[in-house]
Amino acid sequence: MSANTTEDNAIRNIVIFDTTLRDGEQSPGASMNLQEKLSVAQALVDLGVDVIEAGFPIASPGDFEAVREIARLVKGSCVCGLARCVSADIDRAWEALKEAEDPRIHVFLATSAIHREFKLRMSQEEIIKRAVIGVERAKGYCSNVEFSPEDACRTEIDFLCQVVEAAIAAGATTINIPDTVGYTTPPEMTERIQSLFNRVPNIDEAVISIHCHNDLGMAVANSLSAVSAGAGQIECAINGLGERAGNCSLEEVVMALRTRRDIFQADTRIVSQKLVPTSRLVTKVTGLKVPRNKAIVGQNAFAHESGVHQDGVLKERTTYEIMSAESVGFVKNDLVLGKHSGRAALADRIKSLGFDLPADKLDAVFAEFKRLADLKKDVFDADIIAIVDRQLHSTDGQEDANADWQYISYEVNCNSQGAPSCTVRLAQHGLERVGVSNEGDGPIHAIFSAVKQIVGLPICLSDFKVEAVSVGDDAQGEVVMILTIADCSCNFKGQATSTDVLEATIMALVDAINRIQRDKAAVAQAK
Ligand code: KIV
Ligand code: ZN
Repeated sequence: MSANTTEDNAIRNIVIFDTTLRDGEQSPGASMNLQEKLSVAQALVDLGVDVIEAGFPIASPGDFEAVREIARLVKGSCVCGLARCVSADIDRAWEALKEAEDPRIHVFLATSAIHREFKLRMSQEEIIKRAVIGVERAKGYCSNVEFSPEDACRTEIDFLCQVVEAAIAAGATTINIPDTVGYTTPPEMTERIQSLFNRVPNIDEAVISIHCHNDLGMAVANSLSAVSAGAGQIECAINGLGERAGNCSLEEVVMALRTRRDIFQADTRIVSQKLVPTSRLVTKVTGLKVPRNKAIVGQNAFAHESGVHQDGVLKERTTYEIMSAESVGFVKNDLVLGKHSGRAALADRIKSLGFDLPADKLDAVFAEFKRLADLKKDVFDADIIAIVDRQLHSTDGQEDANADWQYISYEVNCNSQGAPSCTVRLAQHGLERVGVSNEGDGPIHAIFSAVKQIVGLPICLSDFKVEAVSVGDDAQGEVVMILTIADCSCNFKGQATSTDVLEATIMALVDAINRIQRDKAAVAQAK
């Protein structure tokens, strides 16, 4: 037996439960459509996630459909659906999950005094009774049942032990301890998990899980404390998405365990080289960008600016790096592609960037690459990623032939003296429509008025960002916007890239409008 094997025998495997598609989707502005959810779910399987929380089926018909389709089509990970301890929720969750290869029902009920008194108006006895009935009902459908005492970290410890014991006795196979409001500190978390292990007599019959929110920036630290105290499952989300300040970030907690296996004596099944591509995909579909200095997946996470650091890294990488950029999926390419680069070089680069591009998409990607290379001297990896993303996941009017609206062309005249004038041409199912505007305080405002005139929907712009995809004054600009429509609480994201940011703005608007058109309920409300 090698020294390694001896060491590995002592390493516990921690179950990674990803909630990007459920708690993560509750991040303001992060809603995803069915196709996007399916592509994220498949990426999570490829990443090695053990359990995918696909949604909250009773919450809306869209949530139900997403959980059902993921359960039906995505194989290789356990698929989980959330339900309150209410019969209708549990029945609906099972209806959505029943075709999954490996289904799990996750039931939850708040247990803290503050939730009992003000939200539920229930006594401790009623809470235990309701939790047991919920777990038993879920168990009637599925052997794999998780129970969460919501706000567990602010629940009296004696009562929490009673609830956990009762839920395990009723058949729960995983007990999740949520820090619902992100209030706990690492030493308190250690103490709470240790108390459960010491005081709940049947604790060994379930896996203890942790679900930390990041309101005080301690979600990853608290999750690691729980693991040190014996927890066997971490609930987390890509890019730390989730309610309010978000959940424990998957990439951070996974790399903390891997990099410091020496202290945690634990690891996961995650294929760390897929962390950056998965983070990028989630950024793309949610429109929520990670900060440049975000640990593990931020653009600057492995960039060394100071001369002293650069000198050290060149002499020996480990002087200033505790992990390699490649180990989390960043690719170092010294060669920049340009208009003389061929198909094979492009295909090779796409592969090394972590994409598995179907052969039938390569032609379209290559054609777009050539168009771009004619417009700008150097085509950087970020440009290639933008092109591939567009071909793989695009729903914007440019590429989706089935979309209601397609972008054709535009013309804007503006200067610093007066109102701009603008003409936009779109096609509605092939029929050209023209919008003209002579008002506004700048070209974006004028474009918005012209498009609004064509589509006739009461749209409002609630967020608008433009960012360079790569470096240089000829870089492509990426526009991400959020539209809302009057009297409807839904957000509709639009996203597009072009070397011309005004064109990217119109394409992103068309993308968002096509999403509104696909949401029949939103269209009905807008009329
Ligand atoms: O934060 C929370 O308490 C939750 C539960 C539903 C697990 O998201
Ligand atoms: Zn949560």
